[in-house]
Amino acid sequence: MHISQLVKQRLQDALTTCPITASLESLDSYASMVRPTTDPKFGDYQVNCAMPLAKLVGSNPREVAAGLVDALQVADLCKPPEIAGPGFINLTLTDEFLQDQMLRMLADPRCGVPESENPKRIIVDFSSPNVAKPMHVGHIRSTVIGDCLARTLQFLGHQVITDNHLGDWGTQFGIIIYGYKHFGDVAVVRENPVAELSTLYRRVHQLMGYHSAKKSIAKLESEIQALSDEHHSALSAADAADGADAKKKRKAADGLVKKRKAAEAKLEEAREKIDAVEQDAELLALAKQHVDIGQQVLIETSKLHSGDPENLALWNEFLPFCKDEINRVYDRLNVTFDHVLGESFYHPMLQDVVDELKQRGLAKLSDDAVCVFLPEFDAPMIVQKRDGAFLYATTDIATLRYRLTEFNPDEILYVVDTRQGEHFDKLFAVARLIGMDQVKLVHVNFGTVLGDDGKPMKTRSGSLIGLESLLDDAVAAAYKEACDPDRLAKMDPPMDEPERREVADVIGIAAIKYADLGHERTSDYKFNLDKMVALNGNTATYAQYSYARTVGILQKNETDEESVADRMARDRFTITHPAERALSLALLRFEEALQSVYQDYAPNHLVEYVYSLAETFSKFNDQCHVLKAESEAIQTTRLALVTMTKRVLKQALELLGIRVVRRM
Ligand code: ARG
Repeated sequence: MHISQLVKQRLQDALTTCPITASLESLDSYASMVRPTTDPKFGDYQVNCAMPLAKLVGSNPREVAAGLVDALQVADLCKPPEIAGPGFINLTLTDEFLQDQMLRMLADPRCGVPESENPKRIIVDFSSPNVAKPMHVGHIRSTVIGDCLARTLQFLGHQVITDNHLGDWGTQFGIIIYGYKHFGDVAVVRENPVAELSTLYRRVHQLMGYHSAKKSIAKLESEIQALSDEHHSALSAADAADGADAKKKRKAADGLVKKRKAAEAKLEEAREKIDAVEQDAELLALAKQHVDIGQQVLIETSKLHSGDPENLALWNEFLPFCKDEINRVYDRLNVTFDHVLGESFYHPMLQDVVDELKQRGLAKLSDDAVCVFLPEFDAPMIVQKRDGAFLYATTDIATLRYRLTEFNPDEILYVVDTRQGEHFDKLFAVARLIGMDQVKLVHVNFGTVLGDDGKPMKTRSGSLIGLESLLDDAVAAAYKEACDPDRLAKMDPPMDEPERREVADVIGIAAIKYADLGHERTSDYKFNLDKMVALNGNTATYAQYSYARTVGILQKNETDEESVADRMARDRFTITHPAERALSLALLRFEEALQSVYQDYAPNHLVEYVYSLAETFSKFNDQCHVLKAESEAIQTTRLALVTMTKRVLKQALELLGIRVVRRM
């Protein structure tokens, strides 16, 4: 049931019949000004369009509101609307309406959420790690956000195609091939391939980082100097100017400070990389032996791309190990994909793509590289380098072309880090330029996971934290936090060790997912495991615990969903307590929450919904006895509410990719 949608439709009708507004244009934008209230004293929904409309027609907002209320036909949903403050229209749903809707919801296996009448075919490109290195904390976001969006859109009735665009062909393979050739040991790789390959990756990566940091230091230092000189003169210019001009100049000066700070952060990072190597005599000796390592890695990569038999054989040998490694993580996270078409899949199509762009006059040679010039951008998109190498962008154009012909989608969602924003802006611009824009392309971007220090989360040695060890930590924390041995021993029957481990696993993994999904997608957030597994607050643990409580209540009342349905047929659903009413309304808002996830591609709306439902349920539980209800009819209604809460919580958590346990 989408109550706001229903109210919006009624408002739209009122706007077209009300004499004050009937002749105005674009009334739907006013009809959409309906919000759930934050305070029950303003009713359940509030209509806010009288104020802007009054401005438009040059009249008093309360008069406009009164005109709208006269035209508004909502007697079947609401009590008579009230006008408040400057011209808000407050709507309070009637108990009869809520009761009817609850009855429908109880009878509906889809928890009152209809399937879309206009289903879209939507590709979700997510997770997409570069597989030559172990998955790290940065991969959690794309994986869980993409999975949640895929699950939710599918539940809303859309045809979802998930695709993991693996980085299985890039420089990272050049890195492990170089590492294997120079530092590798066949026996060790055979025996423990995953660990050894990741050690090789780390070592080569570190040496490359060292040399490129060394090269960048002087440049960064002079850049910082130039920026601070520029800042000084910008400030003097601002001092000399006045009024709006001074303000503008000061703003420009602030911009320079930001740039300088970014350069300083880069310089610090470069110094850290250098220190890490210089503090280790063995590494430093290696660094001195492999001075042109960056160049050599590129050569190994390009040999792979041009079909060099040795490198291709190594790639074929290593890739399955890399895939096993990431699949283990996906199993633990309970994430699956319809397709896993990595970058290597598109390699044979890349020359075609470039040739076609050239033939159509859309790509030109510039500095010996093949470039697509885009009027909206300073720099072109390079699709083939001077040495013939293709780029990440070339693969994305080929991928888009393949997806359009193979799947004919209405939308493609790229769930990828905000830092790739420019890449996708350019990709979408190219798509428009070459006529591949009959599809809605969306960069579903997200912020960075930060450590306690507010910087991207890293281990002490400076590498990003492995995703698996993070999952292990979460499960261990859950084992301690949510499975208090005294409480578990008192359970009937007491919880034994295997069950406790199973519960800790479910809670630990859920904690990480839920915390990630709950943050606003585009902002950065600090990773705090203790907070994530806590039993109180907006956590998965709290939501899962609320679910377990619903199971417990039904058990205590020696009833199940089926017998509750039988009782409903006899006793009708009747609201007699404000906490019952509040819980009914919260349950009926499930569809609203799901639609807003789709609208903003924002799983955090669903997390907020789950939290508010769990809280509303907890208040209901404190205030309304079920077992000792005042009458049998009242008990029936309360059992129905508990049943529905159980179903909606389970469904909502499932859409977040989170499992539940029956007790904890
Ligand atoms: N493998 C890339 C990375 O780790 C992400 C790929 C995202 N998807 C895409 N179609 N570009 O940065």
